[in-house]
Amino acid sequence: MSSVAEKRFAAEAAAMLVRDGMRVGLGTGSTVAYLIAALGQSRPRATYVASSPATEAAARAVALDVVAFDELDELDLAIDGADQVAPDLWLVKGGGGAHTREKVIAASAERFVVIVDSTKLVESLRPPVPVEILAFGAGATLRRLAPATRREALSSPDGGVIVDYHGEFDDPAELSARLSSIPGVVEHGLVAAHLVAEVLVGHDGGVHQLSGRGAP
Ligand code: 5RP
Repeated sequence: MSSVAEKRFAAEAAAMLVRDGMRVGLGTGSTVAYLIAALGQSRPRATYVASSPATEAAARAVALDVVAFDELDELDLAIDGADQVAPDLWLVKGGGGAHTREKVIAASAERFVVIVDSTKLVESLRPPVPVEILAFGAGATLRRLAPATRREALSSPDGGVIVDYHGEFDDPAELSARLSSIPGVVEHGLVAAHLVAEVLVGHDGGVHQLSGRGAP
């Protein structure tokens, strides 16, 4: 089965979790694009917050009710893709450079559901880990993050510089704390397992569900 079909299966299963009246956070990426298409078909009367201009435009294009996040204090559900999913459900996100907003949305949701194709399942997380840094002093912050490289063609939805951290690591919690401690780092793409309620993995003809510690 192609990863495109797997993404679509996972996204369509997640779309069925959205009910009338819910406040729903939408991530960013190709898997989320299938989610938005499915929601455009099923049309639950929900209110949505978008993690990027691309997601907002796609959601509005299928007439979803998108509001600014400052109009809502909390979310019932957040749905997003991921670049890597470890067996303990720690994640790497940020392939699209939107991980700061995506993590704010995920942390604000009662239930955070991750949708992926099977290629995203890994035995252990590995570099690169995307990191958003402030444009102010970006060169100095990049040096303190070494080994890291700047992604020239990409910035975050808030104008932050996106870099990839390339150092090997065994303990994502330790790396998460270390990256967060560097002045100039806005947010890194490691997502702690305790935030994740479940991961929906598309596979041959269906969806496999991995349950996480973040279940409501
Ligand atoms: C964007 C992300 C995406 O969720 C991640 O890169 C997965 O993307 P895709 O669904 O296109 O494989 O974290 O910042």
